[in-house]
Amino acid sequence: MNNKMIHRHDKGAIYIHWFNALCWIFLTLTGLGLISNEHINPVGAWWPDLMRGIFGSAETLINVHIYVGLFWAAVFLIYILVRFRDSLAFLKEVFTLSPARDAVWMVKRNIQLTLGNRAMKKMGMTTEIPPQGFYNAGQKIFAQLTVIAGLILVVTGIIMFISTIILDSPTPAAWSRTIHYLMAGLALAGLLVHIYMAAISRDERPAFKSMFSGAVPEDYARHHHELWYQEVKNKP
Ligand code: HEM
Repeated sequence: MNNKMIHRHDKGAIYIHWFNALCWIFLTLTGLGLISNEHINPVGAWWPDLMRGIFGSAETLINVHIYVGLFWAAVFLIYILVRFRDSLAFLKEVFTLSPARDAVWMVKRNIQLTLGNRAMKKMGMTTEIPPQGFYNAGQKIFAQLTVIAGLILVVTGIIMFISTIILDSPTPAAWSRTIHYLMAGLALAGLLVHIYMAAISRDERPAFKSMFSGAVPEDYARHHHELWYQEVKNKP
């Protein structure tokens, strides 16, 4: 058994990821508590009642949601400015897809995860899966979703916030509310898959541990992120 570890995440990336995770989870839970119309609240009417009970009133709940959202966006902006090159490298990595390789990876990996290798063979497919880079295609699509949804959530959130102070027309806030709701729903769907893949799936357990330790076993890197592994291996 090969026990050699390979560096994957530095401390800054680990801290900002967990800060981000806590804020998103908190904002999702309090945001769901703000949807008083039970017909469009995916968790029903009991959740807003519970949240209002915990925070004392609907007004406190909305204020906490706004200020945590603004705090999250401000910390993120500072992180991007301080680590500008690393942030650009992250964006370049997650927004670079290789259509042929990544489309085949998405189809085959999903069949493999849900039905297994035997089913793949029965369908006439080989069990060979195209090699992936630092992030696999699924992780890249999730990361793209969080970047785009995060930006839209901040912009629409700020429009709703300032509309209560300076804007006379209710139209920008009404549009922002709808878009904010749709984006949060989309991000939540992606997040459930991300949390399942990262924290529950046994296959990705080394990646989960690396979000604390910063390193993954060499075997895991070779097997799951072969293109990245080759790059690292060839570096002096
Ligand atoms: C309990 C919650 C979460 C867990 C257990 C978790 C776990 C992880 C792990 C283990 C990785 C590293 C994957 C790798 O090295 O290959 C990762 C990456 C990442 N996480 Fe999370 N995460 C959580 C919540 C979140 C939240 C709330 C967001 C923000 C929306 C987020 C955004 C990301 C992004 C953008 C990446 C890089 C791309 C990717 O690996 O998908 N995570 N997460």
